[in-house]
Amino acid sequence: MPRTLVRDALNATAPSDAIFLQGWVRTRRDAKAFSFIELNDGSSLKGLQVIVDATLPDYPQVGRASTGASVEVQGRLVASKGQGQQWEVVAEKFTVLGEADATYPLQKKGHSLEFLREIAHLRPRSNLFGAVFRVRSRLAYAVHQFFQEKQFFYVHTPIITASDAEGAGEMFRVTTLPLGNPPKTEQGEVDHTQDFFGRKTFLTVSGQLEGEIFATALSNIYTFGPTFRAENSHTSRHAAEFWMIEPEIAFCDLAGDMALAEEFVKYLIRDAREHCAADLEFFSKFVDKELLTRLDFVLERPFQRCSYTDAIAILTQNGKTWEHPVAWGDNLQSEHERYLTEEHFKCPVTVYNYPRAIKAFYMRVNEGDAPGRQTVAAMDLLVPGIGEIIGGSQREERMELLKEGMALHHLSEKDYWWYLDLRRYGTVPHAGFGLGFERMLMFVTGVANIRDVIPFARTPGTAEF
Ligand code: 4AD
Ligand code: MG
Repeated sequence: MPRTLVRDALNATAPSDAIFLQGWVRTRRDAKAFSFIELNDGSSLKGLQVIVDATLPDYPQVGRASTGASVEVQGRLVASKGQGQQWEVVAEKFTVLGEADATYPLQKKGHSLEFLREIAHLRPRSNLFGAVFRVRSRLAYAVHQFFQEKQFFYVHTPIITASDAEGAGEMFRVTTLPLGNPPKTEQGEVDHTQDFFGRKTFLTVSGQLEGEIFATALSNIYTFGPTFRAENSHTSRHAAEFWMIEPEIAFCDLAGDMALAEEFVKYLIRDAREHCAADLEFFSKFVDKELLTRLDFVLERPFQRCSYTDAIAILTQNGKTWEHPVAWGDNLQSEHERYLTEEHFKCPVTVYNYPRAIKAFYMRVNEGDAPGRQTVAAMDLLVPGIGEIIGGSQREERMELLKEGMALHHLSEKDYWWYLDLRRYGTVPHAGFGLGFERMLMFVTGVANIRDVIPFARTPGTAEF
């Protein structure tokens, strides 16, 4: 008999005389004449109640079906007499496939997130993490749907790269040279010409530069892949390995870029509201009571826009004392970003036109700035509860200004020859952004720590699973 998923059984429109289910025992309650088993197979938050009558020939197996055990049930789907469920299964055959040791760590009572991180191999079987990873899967699908519907092409940019896309030097090295005794040059430095790729290579921090190659050929593209940052940040919003979505659009300026970012974020929220309703309701009950109100509020209103210069004015003229005092030219710290979106605008806000000196080399220089206040056409989308979820910009398409930016950031033109070629041959205005997929998931689920929205978190000091 083909297997029915619990989700489909719960959504059945009619009873059935023959149904076959497989899954794991969440709880078991034994009465005199029968046992109740809550069966969950991960297809939905809710499990299905299975009743095993004590007169059934298979009943002796029930004693082995403790929380965590894997079981198979064949039986009848009938209208439930119990509260809170429409259907239940009356077992006719019941088999324990795999018992769960008495040490099974997931019990009904609920556990701290810290404890569940230590058992990342079992936490997907908990209600919370089942919900998180169903939403993650759905949103990944929605990402592709959004861009494919708009006729953007999906480009697989490389994971191993020789160039530092953000110019921030926070890269993991990729090498096969023997660590203890690497070949040396005459000058006594490590000789990377003898390394696997014949040069220094790293894990990528962003697919953007290669994305630009494809945008200047296919017009509208996006990447969606893992990215790596060796920054030693111990925060709830930073991971050393995370997934990023990076659209790149030819013939587009900063305004078009900001508009696309807003449309994209709203599309993902709407998709989750529609397709992950039960899971989001769970989060709004147990993780963040304000979640659904906040998501709906975000959907209904246009995002605010605010130039960096205006943001600095807001931050310095409100009489607040900051842990990190801020003045024009400084990077916005998390406390400033959170204040702007959570307290000042009380809504997502896109801050744009940042000082050139604090942003990446490839961002387009604005014209008409006051002396000493040179800005670039950059934008960051800040959302309540998290801060930055998107960073993007219009790209510098003018050769001389791009070279100037590279010199400013101490990058060698030789290393970026192919990137410069894009300005040499048919250069066009273009723009793009990167959405941190995990940060988006935090926003949509209300889960406060990035370690809890990625299957296996990579943060400083942790790579167990
Ligand atoms: O602002 P970032 O560094 O921008 C870029 O990498 C550009 N190349 C994007 C582009 O224009 N194509 O990173 C983009 C986003 C951030 O806004 C944040 O959401 C996420 O990536 N992000 C991280 N997420 C988790 N852990 C980290 N360490 C992250 N660093 C960035
Ligand atoms: Mg950024």
